[in-house]
Amino acid sequence: MKNILVIGATGQIGSELTMKLRGIYGNSNVVCGYIPGAEPHGALLESGPAEIVDITNPEQISATVKKYNIDTIYNLAALLSAVAEARPQLAWKIGVGGLYNCLEISREHGCALFTPSSIGSFGASTPHVKTPQDTIQRPDTIYGVTKVTGELLSDYYARRFGVDTRSVRFPGLISYTTLPGGGTTDYAVDIYYAAVKGETFKCPLKPGTFMDMMYMPDALRAAVEIMEADPARLIHRNSFNIASMSFDPEIIYNKIREHIPEFRMEYELDPLRQKIADSWPDSLDDTCARQEWDWAPEYDLEAMTRDMILNLRKKLLVPEPAL
Ligand code: SER
Repeated sequence: MKNILVIGATGQIGSELTMKLRGIYGNSNVVCGYIPGAEPHGALLESGPAEIVDITNPEQISATVKKYNIDTIYNLAALLSAVAEARPQLAWKIGVGGLYNCLEISREHGCALFTPSSIGSFGASTPHVKTPQDTIQRPDTIYGVTKVTGELLSDYYARRFGVDTRSVRFPGLISYTTLPGGGTTDYAVDIYYAAVKGETFKCPLKPGTFMDMMYMPDALRAAVEIMEADPARLIHRNSFNIASMSFDPEIIYNKIREHIPEFRMEYELDPLRQKIADSWPDSLDDTCARQEWDWAPEYDLEAMTRDMILNLRKKLLVPEPAL
């Protein structure tokens, strides 16, 4: 049985991953690590233990690891790409300093460590279409710099100290539970909220801006499956390309209009996000993940769109349209 600490457990991924891990490994075996100002609420608070764990504070991480006899850490603390550009020093402190704390504590206590990387670990000089697993990684953003550093440092700790570090490069993640906040791919979440609320969506990216995206249930499953994978089969560790769908604003807009025909979108470009998106791949090649740990996504754009609209209508108390 695993004893798991999730750091950043109230964030976009953490709030859902913590509940999924509790469902698999038992409520009392998964600790929700949060920072003041981002306290857990509702089921997340009530279903299991919670502790203040600031990733920049090694004593707090270490004390929690000892108190709960933790053997696996999910490190989900990060500033997303656009907000990181506004606060690069903090992005480094959390993304690299925080990861270093997790690696050292994992080395001392024999913990396995999951730290997500991202499509943001690639840059303008990377091949953009079907980006290979092993390729040029010269990102243009501080977010990407922290992610590449994290991949290298995690592989180093695996080789040098035998720490069981594993990772996937997440595409833009889409869910109806917790909003992302400060990312370049956030538009693909915001567009569903606007559509369900009956608002005109102001799209910050221009038509033709393709990026890889993924529905949250697939992303959560990837995070669990990579940590459960047979290590003897893993040729790579930090970090695996994973993919399920790639679209531009026009494609997702038209898909939503198949379900909500009156929905409208206008373009109001955000130069920073456009620049970041232009430097990222259009689509990733996830062959290695499929071969080394049987990765396979379940949701395509149609299945995700149906589920997002259904659940956002419930969440926002918007009635189903009359047939
Ligand atoms: N979703 C992230 C962002 O947009 C990319 O990993 O910053």
